[in-house]
Amino acid sequence: MKVLVIGNGGREHALAWKLAQSPKVQTVFVAPGNAGTAADPKLTNVALTDYVAIADFAQAEKVAVTIVGPEGPLAGGIVDLFRARGLRVFGPTQAAAQLESSKAFAKAFMQRHKIPTAAFETFTDASAAHAYVDEEAVKSGGAPIVIKADGLAAGKGVVVATSLPQAHEAIDWMLSADDNKLGVQHNAGLARVVIEQFLEGEEASFIVMCDGRSVVSLATSQDHKRLLDDDEGPNTGGMGAYSPAPVVTPNVHAKVMHEIIHPTIAGMAKDGIVFTGFLYAGLMIDASGQPRTVEFNCRMGDPETQPIMMRLKSDLCDVLMHATDGTLDAVELEWDRRVALGVVMAASGYPLTPRKGDAVTNLPADAPDAVVFQAGTAPAETGPVTSGGRVLCVTALGDSVRLAQQRAYEVLRGIHFDGAQYRRDIGHRAIKR
Ligand code: AMP
Ligand code: GLY
Repeated sequence: MKVLVIGNGGREHALAWKLAQSPKVQTVFVAPGNAGTAADPKLTNVALTDYVAIADFAQAEKVAVTIVGPEGPLAGGIVDLFRARGLRVFGPTQAAAQLESSKAFAKAFMQRHKIPTAAFETFTDASAAHAYVDEEAVKSGGAPIVIKADGLAAGKGVVVATSLPQAHEAIDWMLSADDNKLGVQHNAGLARVVIEQFLEGEEASFIVMCDGRSVVSLATSQDHKRLLDDDEGPNTGGMGAYSPAPVVTPNVHAKVMHEIIHPTIAGMAKDGIVFTGFLYAGLMIDASGQPRTVEFNCRMGDPETQPIMMRLKSDLCDVLMHATDGTLDAVELEWDRRVALGVVMAASGYPLTPRKGDAVTNLPADAPDAVVFQAGTAPAETGPVTSGGRVLCVTALGDSVRLAQQRAYEVLRGIHFDGAQYRRDIGHRAIKR
């Protein structure tokens, strides 16, 4: 059969790579894809980004199932469009995608359904927001405090303010209409901020698949959001990830399912929204093992997908069929017991002004224990060139975090493009345990 992956990042390369391993799959179309998906056997890039054109293509090619990678098309209603045409697609509807596309919606939802998260207030008025920060300063010292722009912002709409002036400054640039430095897509054209309590602990990515009734959890993982080693520098879309995340002990796992995942699916249903697709809870787990939700995403994580797909032994195409038939309860996922670890190589200037057009050379062939997933790359006559912020994710398997890490960096050191930036410490929290 033919399947379709929508998106052009490392996540989509990993999903397409995994789907291509299914003996039932003849072609994986990737719309629009990148240089990596252009080069892989069985994968075919389709130069389409318009939702209607993509649906027309899926219909004409008799695509058996479509999977949507990024949040943009989900928030834009691509699943609703496919369903209206009777096309099989795995993802949340536009209404369900609000869990990610609006922080204000997600926070109000969690409060209403008693899902553990940081205490918060939402503001549209800058002077009220400033006053709230000042009140918090009197009550609890004020900083650190977290200021979030409402609306999709590619991971860049959050400021963890370590001082009060920084908090006030963040409010100003998030709420001033003519100075939207972040490129946040405001909901209903209205700039809004969520101000929330700073949570201490260790983060983990907890991703499940939902068919509208049943839930299957994927292997756990941990992302590295900051640009530089030791979690310094600006927030990014994610500079590396590994799976499994040892911070998610069996006890924490059970709590997350019981206190966060099931109440979220049930809460959405109660509010009249059936949740289908990947549900990704970004967790903060405190020293006592209590998980709280930092954010919801309604898709797979990038770069978490890369190590997760390397560990998945089950046939992803079969799983997607169950997920879109409402029979996920019949699925038991099988995982490689090894650790998978992916290191992102980003372009010069990432995250603010990534440079394009640098030649990417010495890419190795896939090995059984190491695969280079491509993201911001475009095919050129001489080979791939950089075309976006995160360029590659070098992903390897190993019997321990340290061995997976060693293998990933060994492969990474052979690859070259000018100005490449990468962290040297992916996996450090697990190694320190
Ligand atoms: P978000 O886009 O909401 O996931 O936020 C991006 C990053 O900011 C998270 O991955 C955390 O590292 C950090 N962050 C967000 N909210 C909080 C919070 N309430 N307490 C501590 N850190 C936070
Ligand atoms: N890596 C974080 C995310 O995909 O949102």
